[in-house]
Amino acid sequence: MKILVLNGPNLNMLGIREPSIYGRQDYSALVDFVKNAAQELSCEVEVRQSNHEGVLVDWIQEAYGKFDGIVINPAAYTHTSVAILDALKAAGLPTVEVHLSDIMQREEFRHISYAGMACKTTFKGLGFEGYSKALEYLMLNR
Ligand code: DQA
Repeated sequence: MKILVLNGPNLNMLGIREPSIYGRQDYSALVDFVKNAAQELSCEVEVRQSNHEGVLVDWIQEAYGKFDGIVINPAAYTHTSVAILDALKAAGLPTVEVHLSDIMQREEFRHISYAGMACKTTFKGLGFEGYSKALEYLMLNR
């Protein structure tokens, strides 16, 4: 199984960015964590990050026919992007949403997730662990 792991804006700033919310580990530690989790689950992963909505839309579209599933943390675009929701629906791949923090316990504007409407499930508030849970979910529910 080949899974595309997508990370949205400002996740490249992990470790520096609001460590009380997102932790002290940096983005490269997240990438290592996801790759190790994939290895343990015997699945193939490609991990990408972009600060640009259109780039994320392009990658979701390109995943069609190339990947068997998507794990996505759309970051701030979670709460704003109908374009990402539509791209996920268009590609039609099984998709799981991940958030490092628990968006439901934060500001009200973070409670809505457009991307989540096209996702099988969401793992939130589990830090890096949410990504391994998401990979596991896709492996078990294919
Ligand atoms: C986030 C939560 C979002 O609300 C926020 O904009 C992010 C990160 C998370 O992983 O907890 O950038 O997706």
